[in-house]
Amino acid sequence: MEAGCKIEEQPCDLAMDSLIAYVAENNAQKKIKPVYKTVETALYNDDCLDVMSQFPNNHVDMIFADPPYNLSNGGVTCQAGKMVSVNKGKWDESKGFEEDLEFHEKWISECRRILKPSGTIWISGTNHSIYQCGYILQKLNFHILNDISWFKPNAAPNLACTTFAHSHETLLWAKKDKKAKHIFNYEKMKSGIFREDKMKVPDKQMRSVWSIPTPSPDEKVFGKHPTQKPLALLTRIVVSSTNDSSLILDPFNGGGTTGVAAKIAGNRKYIGIEIEKEYIDLTIKKLNKINNEPKLL
Ligand SMILES: C[S@@+](CC[C@H](N)C(=O)[O-])C[C@H]1O[C@@H](n2cnc3c(N)ncnc32)[C@H](O)[C@@H]1O
Repeated sequence: MEAGCKIEEQPCDLAMDSLIAYVAENNAQKKIKPVYKTVETALYNDDCLDVMSQFPNNHVDMIFADPPYNLSNGGVTCQAGKMVSVNKGKWDESKGFEEDLEFHEKWISECRRILKPSGTIWISGTNHSIYQCGYILQKLNFHILNDISWFKPNAAPNLACTTFAHSHETLLWAKKDKKAKHIFNYEKMKSGIFREDKMKVPDKQMRSVWSIPTPSPDEKVFGKHPTQKPLALLTRIVVSSTNDSSLILDPFNGGGTTGVAAKIAGNRKYIGIEIEKEYIDLTIKKLNKINNEPKLL
């Protein structure tokens, strides 16, 4: 029997707990269990392919995925005016074009299977990864809703002076089923307050270029993740494409920006999967802080 046949679609406030129980029951010997669990949040310290393969079909409302960029191959970049190695960790090394593409196809296929028909997926990346991910989205029949350009007004300069300074990342937003009605909180995007974004004109439609600075030191007080996304970026994504009780999944949790944004947006459920324990620990510190002092973040 397929995983999706065993539990029906349920009211969303039950969906996260039933999903976790389902995964644990069906995989007692593999011990796929969250290492952190509250009413709203669950974190798995595992490979996302292993965890997602145990989820039932059609269960998640929104996925934000920030997969490896595959750019840590001995290059250099500029940090605080100094030339530093671009290596972000073993997880970010390219295994070659074909193997990288195969990995993207595997995890995006799992995302497609576990998303609800009305569900949407966001994928962020640079030129190293985003074209492969976009190709796979199209191959798997996703319907692309937008490609957002996240402009970084404070991007690092290009030290070699041989190309334009890299100052944006691309976010693809796609839905599983072209005919299903997806969530888009149009008014909140049009009329919300986005102080960090010098390009957003108040009370005019939100456009597809978002100007958001890279994470401030305040967002790194508990430690750094080498590719941490700004909280303002993830909050905008969560608020625009989810509602109260939506179940959000991030298969590449990193330092937990998506989970923190889900918590700030309020009344969402969040599941994060991260292979490196140090980044799970970092996420827990941030979530505990926001649990205790929600107004400080
Ligand atoms: C680009 S970073 C995500 C950063 C995150 N968006 C943030 O704001 O902190 C990708 C993360 O995916 C993790 N990762 C890589 N391969 C993974 C896998 N197969 N399963 C789960 N996590 C993985 C890496 O350890 C890394 O922390």
